[in-house]
Amino acid sequence: SRKAANIISAQIIMKPNCVLGLATGSSPVGTYKTAIEWYKKGDLDFSQVTSVNLDEYKGLSPENDQSYRYFMNTNLFDHVNIDKHVLSFRTDWKQILTKPAVNTMDHSQTGGVDLQLLGLGHNGHIGFNEPGAAFEKETHCVDLTESTIEANKRFFESEDDVPRQAYTMGIKNIMQAKKILVVVSGEDKADILKEVLYGPITPEVPASILQLHNDVTIVADEAALSKIDM
Ligand code: F6R
Repeated sequence: SRKAANIISAQIIMKPNCVLGLATGSSPVGTYKTAIEWYKKGDLDFSQVTSVNLDEYKGLSPENDQSYRYFMNTNLFDHVNIDKHVLSFRTDWKQILTKPAVNTMDHSQTGGVDLQLLGLGHNGHIGFNEPGAAFEKETHCVDLTESTIEANKRFFESEDDVPRQAYTMGIKNIMQAKKILVVVSGEDKADILKEVLYGPITPEVPASILQLHNDVTIVADEAALSKIDM
């Protein structure tokens, strides 16, 4: 988490008005905590940073404690000097298309993402781009797979409460980020991480496309790296 926070911190220091693409999930929580610590010490300044979210459930309001906007507020934005309104997704798709630049995923208007933070799904998904998603897709609405609903139900009262659809940056948007930072931890990610890095580049393993990006950093713990000979 500290290593990933260092990379984010370096990005903000090098370009204070950078655009950060930010992920939710358990992987970046420690990174955000560390960034908050450094902000509180006076070592980080988010005042000029723009953030866009990688994805969001469809139909959950920002106040819903399972929405990704709520996650970002409570895990980072409420604790640092970032403009909270500079978030990506609106729950209404039509609004996404018509709202001003900073509230949308329109990269051309934000100037593009400088640093995209990603977690990795057990099936190789990034954002909500599930296996089989076309590499050329931009931001779009997806039907969640059973495995993702299953994995995410731990955050909801029951499986029935898990939204069945979500908005996500497409693989194309992700690949357009200038730098990509992937945070991976745990033995349960070891097989997929190896496949992502050394297996064939295929839509069946969405993150495998990252092999073609020219500036990707993987920050992983030993357990997640355990299947890779180094
Ligand atoms: C989160 C996201 C997802 C997660 C992935 C890993 O915004 O888009 O792709 O990054 O499901 O989740 P964790 O980190 O909880 O293992």
